Parts: sequence; structure tokens; C-alpha cells
Amino acid sequence: MKNILITGGAGFIGSHVVRLFVTKHPQYHIFNLDALTYAGNLENITDIEAAANYTFIKGDIVDAAFIDQLFVKHQFDGVVHLAAESHVDRSIKDPLSFVKTNVIGTVNLLNAAKTIWNGKYEGKRFYHISTDEVYGSLGSEGLFTETTAYDPNSPYSASKASSDHFVRAYGETYGLPYVLTNCSNNYGPFHFPEKLIPLFINNIIHNKSLPVYGDGKYTRDWLYVEDHAVAIDLVFHQGKNYDTYNIGGFNEWQNIDLVKLLCKIMDAKLGRTEGTSEQLIAYVKDRPGHDLRYAIDASKINKELGWKPSVTFEQGLEKTVNWYLENQTWLNNITSGEYATYYEKQYN
Ligand code: NAD
Ligand code: DAU
Repeated sequence: MKNILITGGAGFIGSHVVRLFVTKHPQYHIFNLDALTYAGNLENITDIEAAANYTFIKGDIVDAAFIDQLFVKHQFDGVVHLAAESHVDRSIKDPLSFVKTNVIGTVNLLNAAKTIWNGKYEGKRFYHISTDEVYGSLGSEGLFTETTAYDPNSPYSASKASSDHFVRAYGETYGLPYVLTNCSNNYGPFHFPEKLIPLFINNIIHNKSLPVYGDGKYTRDWLYVEDHAVAIDLVFHQGKNYDTYNIGGFNEWQNIDLVKLLCKIMDAKLGRTEGTSEQLIAYVKDRPGHDLRYAIDASKINKELGWKPSVTFEQGLEKTVNWYLENQTWLNNITSGEYATYYEKQYN
């Protein structure tokens, strides 16, 4: 049996990846390492917590000594690294936390893997999960490809770009076998309600205002989170060492159009007259350094590994809205805690 370390598996995307790996790969023992920050929530993975091939470990990737010991103890064969500070707005308020977790934390994991693998790299792999935000902003035309130059604009994307560079540097310098993916905006169940879609679903439920930044004409490329998890599984097993793949939804939306679609779906689900939720839209002060447009060219992973998204945006959004309406206890448990305080300070 191989020991696989997944970091950040109590977060949004990580919980879907842990679930997929635990259920699909009984030949692995999955170790889920997560510090349970404000964004980490064991309620995201209650369905698999009793699985025989699964162990949860609470711990911080910034703690180098702890990470070193963990690698020695469990002799991981593979690492799927998702743990990160992930919210752009928080990075603007507190860049250093992003440097610590996203840069130093990643280097700690690389060091620990390098030490225990000690040049014997057969069957070993370090998979770093990154973001399309490292490429900066597009104008109205064009797509990010794997060869687009890095040009990060926010402290979050700068920290992710830095971690990507370290991963490649460990590949070049020490031969550490890595694979790296840069993905567009995910959405779906267990998405923390500070990000656009779950925040707005929650606010619509509670008749609270919908804070659209700037003129709302910013564009993102949305991907259903389970499709991302499938892509991660595929790349981990079939991706080429020392290579990079872009992952995206072929699904660009201006924020304001997405918000209006969401309002329409929510009105129908909540039995409200069409147009009710749109009245909650409030244009607010823009995010500093707000990237205008992200859009991914995912043709490489499509051609080389046969991956493409399985659900349309309309299907994915419908599934997502249904999930949040059926899991309001999950939402309430979050919004009644520390996050609520943060949110009140930001916007009220
Ligand atoms: P998230 O914020 O929902 O989850 C992050 C998880 O990491 C949490 O469970 C948190 O407790 C854990 N964590 C944070 N700091 C840690 C530390 N120091 N030690 C151990 N665990 C720690 O994030 P997400 O949206 O699921 O993103 C996961 C990864 O995917 C990140 O690397 C992110 O950059 C990347 N990514 C996200 C998106 C997206 O749209 N959400 C898109 C592309 C790439
Ligand atoms: O592109 C991938 C990235 O997508 C990931 O790497 C990040 O971890 C993830 O958080 C996400 O970043 P964004 O900044 O694009 O996501 P967010 O949900 O914060 O914002 C989406 C868009 O909506 C963006 O243009 C800002 C806008 N927005 C966001 C919030 C929270 C609003 O207009 N109002 C809001 O309240």
C-alpha cells in the first residue's frame, strides 16, 4: 500500500480530492494534513472519516520540524499539496500569512519530500495545486496557456507564483519529480462563504445585500469543483513529471451576469417573484488591484489526458444552489462563528 499525503483536505477543493482518493483508491492510505484554519472544516469530510484507508492529522505546514517528522514517520510516496491561504481579499489585509503558508509551507513540504526520497525518485511524486491567478490579468481577448509568463498582481497570487517557482526549482536543482496544475475559479459544495458564489447564496437566503465590486464587469472562468478533483486524480496518475497543466471550465462569466443568473435561480428555488433577489445587488468599492479577466486554455490537459468538464455551468450552479439550500446547518455553523465577525468588520 502506498502512503499518500494530501494537504488542505479539510478545505473546499481538498475535501473533494480527499473523498475521491479515499473512495477510488483503496490501494492508498490517505493522510489528510490540515491546520484547520478558519477555512478548514472537518464537517466537509464526515462521510469518509471512518474509512480504513484514511487518517486525519491536524498540523501546520509552516512548522518545519513537525513536517520533517511526519514524513519520516509515514514515508509518503506521493504528496498532493492543496493547503493554502486562498482568499484574495484576506491577502490584501494580511500578506504575511500568505507568505508563511503558501511559500514557506510549500518549501517545508518540498524539503521533507526531498530528504526522505533522497534521490530515489522511482514511484514518487510531488503534486502542487496552483491557480490561474499567477498569470495576472487578461484584457478582453486571449487565454492563459501553460507558457504564459507569470505576472501576479495580488499578495495571494504573488505567494502562489512564488510557491510554483520553488516547486520547479526543486525539480531543476534536485530532480524532485513534480507535477503542477494552474486552475481557474472553482465553485460547488463546501465552498467557504467568503467567496463570491457561496457568499451571495447565503446573503440571498438571508435577504442581505450582494456586494458587487466595482462595475461588476470582471470576468472569471468557472469550473465545478468535482470536475477539478477528477482532473487532479488524472494528473496525479497520468501527468508527466516536471510538467504543468492548465485546468479551466471553458466557461467565462462577467461577475454581474453570473450574479443575475444566481439571483434568478435562487428566486425560483425560494419561491420568490423573479427579480426579488436582484434588488439586493449593491455596487461597492472595488477590490484594490482587481484583475480584469481570467480565462484558461485547457486544451493541453484535454488532448494529452482526455480531461474535460462533465457538467455545464447551468447544471453545476443548480447542483450547488440545491446543496447549499439542503445544507443550511453547514452554512450557519460557519457564519455564526469567527467568520461572521470578520465579515461584519469588512463590509458593515
Ligand atoms: P480553502 O481556503 O477552502 O482551503 C485551504 C485549506 O488549507 C483549509 O482546510 C485550511 O485549514 C488549510 N490550511 C491553511 N493553512 C494551512 C497550514 N499552514 N497548514 C496546514 N493546512 C493549512 O482553499 P481552496 O479554495 O480549497 O483551495 C485549495 C488549493 O487550491 C489552494 O492551494 C488554492 O490556491 C488552489 N486553488 C483554488 C482555486 C479556487 O477557486 N478555490 C482555484 C485554483 C487553485
Ligand atoms: O482564479 C482562481 C482563484 O479563484 C483561486 O486561486 C482563489 O483561491 C479563489 O478564491 C478565486 O479567486 P477570486 O478572487 O477570483 O474569487 P472570489 O470568489 O473572491 O471573487 C470572484 C470575483 O467576484 C472577483 O472578480 C471578485 C468578485 N467579488 C468577490 C466577492 C467575494 C465581488 O464582486 N464581491 C464579493 O463580495
